[in-house]
Amino acid sequence: MKIGAPKETAAGEARVAMTPQSAKDLQKLGYECLIEKGAGLLAGFGDAAYEAAGVKVVTAAALWKEADVVAKVRPPSDSETKKLSEGQTLISFFYPAANEKLLEAAKAQKANVIAMDMVPRISRAQKMDALSSMANIAGYRAVIEAGNNFGRFFTGQVTAAGKVPPAKVLIVGAGVAGLAAIGTATSLGAITYAFDVRPEVAEQIESMGAEFVYLDFDEQTQDGAATGGYAAPSSPEFREAQLKKFRELAPDIDIVITTALIPNRDAPVLWTKDMVEMMKPGSVIVDLAAERGGNCEMTVKDEKIVTDNGVTIVGYTDFPSRMATQSSLLYSTNVRHMMSDLTPGKDGQVVHNMEDDVIRGATVTHAGEITWPPPPPKVQAIAAAPKKEKPKELTVEEKKAAEIAAFKKETRNQFALLGIGGALMLLVGLWAPASFMQHFIVFVLAVFVGFQVIWGVAHSLHTPLMAVTNAISSIIIVGALMQIGSGSFLVILLAALSVFMAGINIFGGFMVTRRMLAMFQKS
Ligand code: NAI
Repeated sequence: MKIGAPKETAAGEARVAMTPQSAKDLQKLGYECLIEKGAGLLAGFGDAAYEAAGVKVVTAAALWKEADVVAKVRPPSDSETKKLSEGQTLISFFYPAANEKLLEAAKAQKANVIAMDMVPRISRAQKMDALSSMANIAGYRAVIEAGNNFGRFFTGQVTAAGKVPPAKVLIVGAGVAGLAAIGTATSLGAITYAFDVRPEVAEQIESMGAEFVYLDFDEQTQDGAATGGYAAPSSPEFREAQLKKFRELAPDIDIVITTALIPNRDAPVLWTKDMVEMMKPGSVIVDLAAERGGNCEMTVKDEKIVTDNGVTIVGYTDFPSRMATQSSLLYSTNVRHMMSDLTPGKDGQVVHNMEDDVIRGATVTHAGEITWPPPPPKVQAIAAAPKKEKPKELTVEEKKAAEIAAFKKETRNQFALLGIGGALMLLVGLWAPASFMQHFIVFVLAVFVGFQVIWGVAHSLHTPLMAVTNAISSIIIVGALMQIGSGSFLVILLAALSVFMAGINIFGGFMVTRRMLAMFQKS
């Protein structure tokens, strides 16, 4: 069978659904590959590169006619839909919930349509999850776009010309795009804060080096398990608490990147006009939810505006297309994996197995029927983190019993140690002279007291090792001070030397600690 990728016809779309690399892999699956002339140019793949990879470069008309499988990025236009033929398979983004007419048209053409946006979000299908690969790029690009419009560094710097404070970035919504934005912002050195309504993402946010913005609110409205990893609309009280927190943050934040979406709804408005007005001139907002109305009240879809108080608001909706090479590489790999699942025999023959959870989930029309919406997947989205069991609260009696048991155990250990120590002492005493025993006992007691004192020290220095060596030095000073009044010149000299050297260790420890801490302080 033949698989072909036409040139995208949507205005400004630079991506392509097949790259020379993905074509090589498709050929290994037994397919003959076709590409429309110039289809990959805007993504950086010339016709010669395709030809070198064994792809036949053809006209648009020939491609739609010859290809058994057509791979595209954007949903087909009306004229493209008319070119679909009976039994032909189309793989592209389709958004069936918003494109009912298109769905009817594809059904009328009796084409089999696989919507890449409908691939179920289960572990096995991650390699085909084009929504995630595009969201990842959008999140990354949003930070780059913000940096491009922001007049300062992301990271704090101390230069000969002055000190630069680090930028403060707030990411609202920590799904795939939000996490990619967090990763990019922290790696550029910004102080990054992030918020999401799903409490299970707090750990992910913190593991990426950002700070989770906690609300002073008790309600656990967002149960990821119930919604397959997606957010559900918040209650009005929760929203109020969220907006109150954002109002507190707004004057201090330099860059806001919003990615908050709820499936099949308009984007929630979370960054209101008064918050924009509170921001400093030169601040930047990048609204990744602009396509669905925007999370920022002042976003203008597909445009970049500057408000009266000098805040730049970017409302572009084509971030993946702005990184066409990267997004084509990832998208074509997603398509190739889908083809791999559709070709179990690796013989260049499509087997449209409607029993397969992933293929069934993504198929929106098949054999002249509309097959959307699919039945719920048998496997749950991996995002639904299991709820953590709270540790059981102990009653007062139980706590008391546990304390008594611990005390008894400790006392038993101490008696055992004392017994062993005493027996050893007796054993030594049987042979050693009396004068030795006297000094030895003082020595053993001194070691014991010193040990207890040193281990009782709270670690306030940079490392526990430094804290302990400083404590040892302090004990040395105590010992030396007791000897310094002695009559012998040699003892006075040695005691003074001990005080001097232990002093160097103590003061040096504090100085090194201060220097080490300064390395991690941003401002
Ligand atoms: P999305 O694009 O639908 O939403 C983006 C984020 O906005 C979500 O994290 C959502 O909780 C958040 N949000 C919604 N309303 C909000 C509000 N009022 N305030 C703040 N944040 C709000 O989500 P996306 O990126 O498509 O993924 C959602 C989740 O799905 C992921 O975090 C992941 O857990 C899961 N997932 C699972 C995959 C798999 O199993 N293969 C693949 C990709 C994602």
